[in-house]
Amino acid sequence: MFDIQMFDIQQYLDQQRQIVENGLQRYMMQEEGKFSSHIESMRYSLFVGGKRIRPILCLAAGRSVSDAPNIEETLLPAACALECIHTYSLIHDDLPAMDNDDLRRGQPTCHKKFGEAEAILAGDGLLTYAFALLSNPSLPGPETETRLQLIAVLAKAAGSQGMVGGQYLDIASEEKTIPFELLKTIHRSKTGALITASVRMGALAAQGDPTQLEALIRYGDAVGLAFQIVDDLLDVTASTEQLGKTAGTDAQQGKATYPAFFGKEKTRALAKEAVDSAQEALSSFDERAEPLRALAQYIFKRTC
Ligand code: IPE
Ligand code: IPE
Ligand code: MG
Ligand code: MG
Ligand code: MG
Repeated sequence: MFDIQMFDIQQYLDQQRQIVENGLQRYMMQEEGKFSSHIESMRYSLFVGGKRIRPILCLAAGRSVSDAPNIEETLLPAACALECIHTYSLIHDDLPAMDNDDLRRGQPTCHKKFGEAEAILAGDGLLTYAFALLSNPSLPGPETETRLQLIAVLAKAAGSQGMVGGQYLDIASEEKTIPFELLKTIHRSKTGALITASVRMGALAAQGDPTQLEALIRYGDAVGLAFQIVDDLLDVTASTEQLGKTAGTDAQQGKATYPAFFGKEKTRALAKEAVDSAQEALSSFDERAEPLRALAQYIFKRTC
């Protein structure tokens, strides 16, 4: 067993976030030329903050199966693509037609700052740019066949059988009594799918073997579910200042959430259960998976 208490998660997150920020700064379009104000709205949402947990999971999964010295460089465009998709999902999630939120990452939401049409387009631009990053042969990355796999994994996770499908079910379930199975499906698709894809893409790009990939997918599924359960919990337990987004809005909008279904205590227990099964999935991994173990614990304990 590894002593997770010895792992300084805060220091690790700070370092990894810096790597991701540098990658995003390097790879993101600049505000210049004919489309500069459109690019400004994309960059606003992307660089306004964020925990960068998906790209960090991608890098950590890659490093858990590979010691290659250039592994970070190989993974970085894929990690940045994940953050582009995630940021797009937040911009659209906040729109008046969806969750109608005014605050995101501690700042006015994209549509509050730039207007609705611009925000829709900022999301569209980031979604598309993710695939431009993955498929750009002049950026670092794995060989062509693996790049194709990365594109397929991300497209499926982000689309109608993943995040978009989950967002559809989330909206369709507002103010309704739904069965638990459906609640779980919503969480696994709207949030879990992209988190699983983050881990899977890191492992694929780092040439993990099929057994490692299978275990990492199980890890991703479990932390992905835990991540959204904790997000639901924080909506009822944390403050707007802490979260950088308006607290308490789920209940107002009649969202299907774990606390609405089970209450806070049972919700916390279910998040812990998911995180424990994430740890279990890593049982055959060596110390290179220590960051993934610490990240699972962080996902359970996080306060924002
Ligand atoms: C918020 O995601 C939306 C969910 C899928 C729960 P994060 O909590 O990762 O948001 P940022 O990226 O840190 O702002
Ligand atoms: C969002 O779920 C999932 C996404 C795909 C963006 P939420 O609607 O709960 O996310 P927050 O709480 O607004 O960040
Ligand atoms: Mg939502
Ligand atoms: Mg929302
Ligand atoms: Mg939420």
